Amino acid sequence: MNVHESEKIAGGLANLGFQPVDSREDADIIVFNTCCIRDSAEKKIHGHIGELKNYKKNNSDLIVAIVGCMTQQSGATESLKEKYPFIDIILGTANVHLIADKISEIINAQSSKRLKIYENVSPTLALHETQPPLRNSYPNAWINIMYGCDNHCTYCIVPYVRGGERSRDPDSILNEASALLADGYKEITLLGQNVNSYSHSGWNFARLLSTIAELPYKFRLRFMTSHPKDFSSEIIDVIFAKHNICKCIHLPVQAGSNSILKAMNRRYTRESYFDTIQKIRSRLVSCAITTDIMVGFPGETDDDFNDTLDLVQRVRFSNAFTFVYSPRKGTPAAQMVQLPASLKRERIMKLIEVQNQIVKEISDSYLGNTYEVLVDGVSGEILTGKTETGRVVNFIGAKELLGEFVNVHIDKCKASALGGHIDC
Ligand code: 5AD
Ligand code: SF4
Repeated sequence: MNVHESEKIAGGLANLGFQPVDSREDADIIVFNTCCIRDSAEKKIHGHIGELKNYKKNNSDLIVAIVGCMTQQSGATESLKEKYPFIDIILGTANVHLIADKISEIINAQSSKRLKIYENVSPTLALHETQPPLRNSYPNAWINIMYGCDNHCTYCIVPYVRGGERSRDPDSILNEASALLADGYKEITLLGQNVNSYSHSGWNFARLLSTIAELPYKFRLRFMTSHPKDFSSEIIDVIFAKHNICKCIHLPVQAGSNSILKAMNRRYTRESYFDTIQKIRSRLVSCAITTDIMVGFPGETDDDFNDTLDLVQRVRFSNAFTFVYSPRKGTPAAQMVQLPASLKRERIMKLIEVQNQIVKEISDSYLGNTYEVLVDGVSGEILTGKTETGRVVNFIGAKELLGEFVNVHIDKCKASALGGHIDC
């Protein structure tokens, strides 16, 4: 989601005549598009901003902007201003689309003292669709279908910094998708915090997915993120019916214990999660299922953690993003009694070990077979692409194959990545 937002920011700057550069030494403008979903992401950003202090001293024309999630937390703008007085622009999640206007204002200001712009409005206000993105992920194109989230999982800061759920008009989504496919994009990924609850003028997610899949081009359709409580049989039926909807579903489980799921306010149980997995696998036999899992949520006992390990072993996720819970200011879970860091570390190591083994076993099952791969990266003579199940495959080929579908025979497997050769 943030990657696509950065494409929109870059689009606004391109409109002003600026171009992306590879190093900050060559930059006239540096924009930090921040994330505060986890403590680690926030710490990293502070490190990067801090590094600019001396740099800006030697280059007073440089414009530095901080935008996005992190600035939207209560009191964040004030503390950023105080800690980093050299920042020129601070914009929240709802007015980030104004970045180009604000940069113009600064450039055009006739004052001897550099103008500073710090603006933060309610996160529920905008849909951000005014920014034509400078896309950077060909052959994939990201499309936001909704913004914000109404779920209020007790650990999560997203509803506070990105506001409540707002779905985009289906006509504008369909127009955007058609234009991108006509332009030669070969994969569309629909984005939202909880795409399954998309709702606009009588359209639900299943209808939107099915209608986009019918656009008359050869392309792959992906979407993320899904919420297990909203992943309906109707959606499974659409994925089954449309050959170009990738058989790869990201379904964050977060925890395997019912008491932790309840404390997280996830509104499903481990049993109902197993049920959904079973429904998916009975219709979409070779469907890859990936997930997000957190360890160390307040109150997580050894038994709770073992339930998570047990769930991971039973479901056998194709891939899992594993996180150590970190308290986010203003969320209900931040008020709960926290677990010691050493225990969280121990648990994450164990979880990663179990999951890595599963990933390796699933990778092995690709060996000796041929898959259609969409080429999405070139580095010298090595091409990178993905199977429809989302497995990364490396193989030798001509750079002109970028954006093409090729059949690749898999003969190597290293952890989650596969190696192969083009099968003519
Ligand atoms: N601490 C750790 N991980 C978190 N996530 C969300 N909030 C937190 C938090 N406070 C994880 C969840 C979510 C993913 C995007 O980030 O697993 O699915
Ligand atoms: Fe956060 Fe829960 Fe919404 Fe996902 S569904 S964005 S975890 S509140």
